[in-house]
Amino acid sequence: MPALDLLVIGSGVSGLSAAVRAGSAHRLRVGVITKGQLHQTTTRWAQGGVAAVLGGTDDPDSTDLHMADTLSAGAGLCDIDAVRVLVDEGPVRVSDLIAMGAIFDRDHEGDYMKAREGGHTQARILHARGDATGAEIERALVVAVHDTAASLVEHAFADSLLMDNGACVGVRYQDANGTLHEMEARNVLLAAGGAGQLYSVTTNPVEATGDGIAMALAAGAALGDTEFVQFHPTALHHEAMPRPLLSEALRGHGALLRDANRERFVDELEPRDVVSRAMMRTMIEQAEEHLWLDATGLEDFAVRFPTIHRSLELVGLDATTDLLPIAPAAHYTCGGVITDLRGATTVPGLWAAGEVACSGVHGANRLASNSLLEGMVFGPRAVDAIAAGAVGPEPTGAMRTVLTPDDARVTGRRLDPPEPPRWGSVDSDPAKVRRAVQASMTRGAGVLRDRQSLATTAAELEELISHVPAQDSDPAWLEIRNLITLGRAVVIAAASREESRGAHTRDDFPATSDDWMLRQVMVRA
Ligand code: SIN
Repeated sequence: MPALDLLVIGSGVSGLSAAVRAGSAHRLRVGVITKGQLHQTTTRWAQGGVAAVLGGTDDPDSTDLHMADTLSAGAGLCDIDAVRVLVDEGPVRVSDLIAMGAIFDRDHEGDYMKAREGGHTQARILHARGDATGAEIERALVVAVHDTAASLVEHAFADSLLMDNGACVGVRYQDANGTLHEMEARNVLLAAGGAGQLYSVTTNPVEATGDGIAMALAAGAALGDTEFVQFHPTALHHEAMPRPLLSEALRGHGALLRDANRERFVDELEPRDVVSRAMMRTMIEQAEEHLWLDATGLEDFAVRFPTIHRSLELVGLDATTDLLPIAPAAHYTCGGVITDLRGATTVPGLWAAGEVACSGVHGANRLASNSLLEGMVFGPRAVDAIAAGAVGPEPTGAMRTVLTPDDARVTGRRLDPPEPPRWGSVDSDPAKVRRAVQASMTRGAGVLRDRQSLATTAAELEELISHVPAQDSDPAWLEIRNLITLGRAVVIAAASREESRGAHTRDDFPATSDDWMLRQVMVRA
């Protein structure tokens, strides 16, 4: 019998929310392994906040409005039931976090302060320490998980899932010295985040290399929505990587976007796919590498946005007087491992939650500040299902497309996953190959794509495969193998979808087509 009831891979908001719930609400024996230090996750970089309707007597907001905004940002591809779960259970999970010690900002009357961001019709974003919401949530969860987890292993690079008779029974990982270990568990929850590192310019930390999605694919799990890679419109145009983010909350507070002529060119409160697209088109038209964010009219900038204020200071900018150079940067992997509403994947024993997953909540484009919420809702849901003895997926959420593709609510299109790559044997410099992958994805499969650009990137990725040694288990090479695997999945789905929708813009198919109101899933035949 495995020692663990649940092994969580990843220590961001989804993984730690799940681990804490498993230990505290269900007394499950839970372990967490993570690639860096426990707190070293994409979650801690999240600025804006958590979209959640906490209610209140004269609050004009409602979960129905939050749902409507999420569906609208998702451009027709969200799963309605998944979004209902997200908006209804979100407030309860925020309360759980507050009970764990997370401190959200309040006004002088003691009420929670609420900000507005792109795509939201109401001010409903809770934030912490101004623009350090992810860091505060991560802090509270790291404290809590120390009391609940049976084992926490840092600097553990998970390289494959252990399989027995088609079921996932644990994980193989490498420790910091390169020694291999196997950890068995009755259930494995993937909470390993996304793959912003697929692109040269990203807001994601270096660890975001799609490891969880690639491992799941290798184990036979279905993937969905991989063509929808979200770019954040307002990353600071600066050589620092990850790019310092200039939160959407700035635009929610009235900051304006200006082109090279200092003119406005888009409604700043549109969802971020619309804004990123408008920016790219304007940059191309004006032959500029960046545009401008004008936050000079915002009051108390340093108090309300201390993290951003500090990162601007570091590069000699002052938001109260300077226009801030900005350009879109890869930010969020909307697709991933297909799950049902309880986080079950198509592989028995394997669960997924958060950015690694495709539960159906984001559709073609994630609404701002729904990502922390997704993690804190769907991580614990998987745990509750495991504790209740659930086995295997149900036809709910995005999983409906796989299990009941003829369901009238969502039709699906099946794609073959990328062929297993024939890795090369000649050693080269991993940093160089990684940069080449990122450059190719940026040129051909970025904010704007077309048939030719995608075909070129597909060919370049195939060529790069031969520069990746098959046998080298150095984590730098493992990450590149994962990035190439995921890059190929993005390109296959993007080339197949001959329309523009949400975060997927085809210059050769600029219109949104009713024929494409469907989710693409990659399932091995
Ligand atoms: C931001 O603060 O703009 C990022 C929040 C998010 O990604 O939802």
